[in-house]
Amino acid sequence: MKDAQAQTIYLRDYTPFGWTVESVHLTFVLAPEATRVRSRLRFVPDPKAPAQEFFLQGEDLTPISFAIDGAPVTPEITPEGLRAKVPDGPFTFEAEVEIAPLHNTALEGLYMSRGMYCTQCEAEGFRKITFYPDRPDVMSVFTVRIEGGEPVKLSNGNPVGAGEGWAEWHDPWPKPAYLFALVAGDLVAQSDSFTTRSGREVALNLWVREGDLHKCAFGMEALKSSMDWDERVYGREYDLDVFNIVAVDDFNMGAMENKGLNIFNSSAVLASPETATDANFERIEGIIAHEYFHNWTGNRITCRDWFQLCLKEGLTVFRDAQFTSDMRSAEVKRIVDVIDLRARQFAEDQGPLAHPVRPESFQEINNFYTATVYEKGAEVIGMLKLLVGDDAYSRALDLYFARHDGQACTIEDWLRVFEEVTARDLSQFKLWYAQAGTPRLAVAEDWQDGTYTLTLRQTTPPTPGQPDKAPLVIPVALGLLSPDGHEVLPTTVLELTEAEQSFVFPGLAARPVPSLLRGFSAPVVLERESSREERVFLLAHDTDTFTRWEANRDLARACLLAMVTDGADPDAAWLDGLETVLRDASLDPAYRALMLGVPTQSDLAQALHDRGVTPDPEAIWAATERLRDARATRWAELLPQLADEARVEAPYRPDAAQSGRRSLGSAVLALTTRVDGGSAAEAQYDRADNMTLQLSALACLVQAGRGAEALARFRAQWQDDRLVMDKWFGLQIAASDPTETVAVTEALTRDPDFDWTNPNRFRAVFGALAGHHAGFHRADGAGYDLLADWLIRLDDKNPQTTARMCAAYQSWRRYDPDRQAKMRAALDRIAAKPGLSRDVTEMVTRLIA
Ligand code: PHE
Ligand code: ZN
Repeated sequence: MKDAQAQTIYLRDYTPFGWTVESVHLTFVLAPEATRVRSRLRFVPDPKAPAQEFFLQGEDLTPISFAIDGAPVTPEITPEGLRAKVPDGPFTFEAEVEIAPLHNTALEGLYMSRGMYCTQCEAEGFRKITFYPDRPDVMSVFTVRIEGGEPVKLSNGNPVGAGEGWAEWHDPWPKPAYLFALVAGDLVAQSDSFTTRSGREVALNLWVREGDLHKCAFGMEALKSSMDWDERVYGREYDLDVFNIVAVDDFNMGAMENKGLNIFNSSAVLASPETATDANFERIEGIIAHEYFHNWTGNRITCRDWFQLCLKEGLTVFRDAQFTSDMRSAEVKRIVDVIDLRARQFAEDQGPLAHPVRPESFQEINNFYTATVYEKGAEVIGMLKLLVGDDAYSRALDLYFARHDGQACTIEDWLRVFEEVTARDLSQFKLWYAQAGTPRLAVAEDWQDGTYTLTLRQTTPPTPGQPDKAPLVIPVALGLLSPDGHEVLPTTVLELTEAEQSFVFPGLAARPVPSLLRGFSAPVVLERESSREERVFLLAHDTDTFTRWEANRDLARACLLAMVTDGADPDAAWLDGLETVLRDASLDPAYRALMLGVPTQSDLAQALHDRGVTPDPEAIWAATERLRDARATRWAELLPQLADEARVEAPYRPDAAQSGRRSLGSAVLALTTRVDGGSAAEAQYDRADNMTLQLSALACLVQAGRGAEALARFRAQWQDDRLVMDKWFGLQIAASDPTETVAVTEALTRDPDFDWTNPNRFRAVFGALAGHHAGFHRADGAGYDLLADWLIRLDDKNPQTTARMCAAYQSWRRYDPDRQAKMRAALDRIAAKPGLSRDVTEMVTRLIA
């Protein structure tokens, strides 16, 4: 069990280990309840670091024997590791320990997933495999021998030998222990190959269970595209003879970039048209690229310590977004990313879990794999690129790879290459890494004698531990439009560095309309009192697709807020403007589908809170429904036309063009169902030959209260497919009426297929509950209690997944006192659980602080 008294680790306390590890030899003798792990580690004192006590991390290990330079020793063993007296010079340390992968339900270290052995070592899982300096700045060369009866036995690097019951692997590239991986099981591979531009032939394998072979083709193509893209765009080649990917059913996260042996949650790699939606395909393509890109940004160049997590994650998210933009539609990708950033990262920034992109302290690093580190970390890189320009960006990256290859680095190292390439002082820019919270940008305008003046004022609200904020460097991309809709100033990047700053544009014939924060050039909240007429104007005329979409979103939000607070009718001027956009067949269907989207109910709750109004989830639900009904009736004649445009005749392909059409089709079907009661959805369900169409029809039927039969048919059809059954579970909750959400969830937890120790299944159910704003926030607190019951239960088995799901309560302070009290009580109940994990203890403590 974990140490109850939580210890806080600080960035400022960083000290090097004291030794380098020249080589690592590991032997695994596999057995579900008694795996033996023998290690031989060669330590050499680090001349640059003062000699210190010799301590190796180790948790939940049964010690068998130890030796130093061949002589048996008896180290002092604590719950966190071992301490030993060691020689002054180089020495060899050997250990043998026993572990029980079968009983490892936390899914960290070596564990079993349905009979197959696999590992997860990031961030601190290797210490559950053997005693080791389990820190990312200790990099070493690993040789691994696996003994066991499993037909397939994999580890990092290249295969160097195999025989009856054993296999050996050698990874020539020094790596930290968190990138170690081992897999053994009864697996089959979809194989292919890739020739790098310097002519290295790389064997590619996607390892799966036999029954999943038909779900591998797309992932393999995505891998090859990623390898090709990283060569073309970043000049990065792959560096081993083989690249293995394994699909695992029980996994806490999406996927893991272990050197040469990526391990994926099945949901993040397996897909066939019948079983996966367009959104699944796109996510898979992005995650495969992400993990592959880590080979350079993460593996060849890793992090000095876990505070630098954004060094690899922010950059790799940024790179995978560039990849998706190139493979699909850059405009659509940007909008989708901003929606996601606001939903997850802004929410984090606005609540008690707010933390800087580079945190300064933590108790459990697993709790910092957050939207702030990943997505805001990527936004920071996007701003940097915008400020220095594409050319300087690519020279800085070349320098980064050349200078730091093989090293464990910091954000300081990263920024220094940009400073050297551009001769720019980035000390103020660096605040983006240190300061938490979403900056607010207030805008004032002046117009006189042909001169337009824009005054920007920035403030960042206080966040936990950071009451006062300094001004940041904020790139604000601006365009100006003349009143007749022509662009009089093409996109220009203003650099806001002061708390308040004015920008002057002389020589204009008429007062311009500003198109601000084009492409969402900075992760800020724009506070600008603009008229509805101006927004409608931008919706019609803006030449930047992002700000055009944003104008529509602002109109939708304003409309919904007025409907919630004043019982107003839907805004006719906005709906007319939007209709013109929807009818414009020259616009990408995917873009029009995005235009049909409205702000989420949680987003509206936050907007109300920001305006000093306590959000009422039922009223927000009602207004959203009323708007949807109004749009459905208003556009009764337009919808069939759009449905025609959205229809795809060609055989299914998960590409941008087809999936864009289907996303328009799904949005249209949801509205149509409000007028036809579900007949169109029923017809679509019956003829659907792919999961995208099948699932969107099913959601409509459930929403219309006509889902029972289709749900039963769906289950009968997909009973044996776990990933599809996850959808079956989640959809019923997501599409439920808020008065039913808790009851539906509760009933599903009693379903024989509710395998709650499987993270995907648990998340399918409770992620859907937490994501149903009005259902989760039911006034009597039943949603809060149900989730708390299950988090308390899961914590014993899987602290990491439990802790991540605690974030469902992160916005608790924005609701009325009664709901606050009920959420607080749920959190207190979790906090009071005897033996609560360190992961959840930290989360709950931060949430109620
Ligand atoms: N490093 C992984 C990624 O971003 C995420 C991860 C973290 C996976 C911790 C498992 C455990 O690609
Ligand atoms: Zn990553």
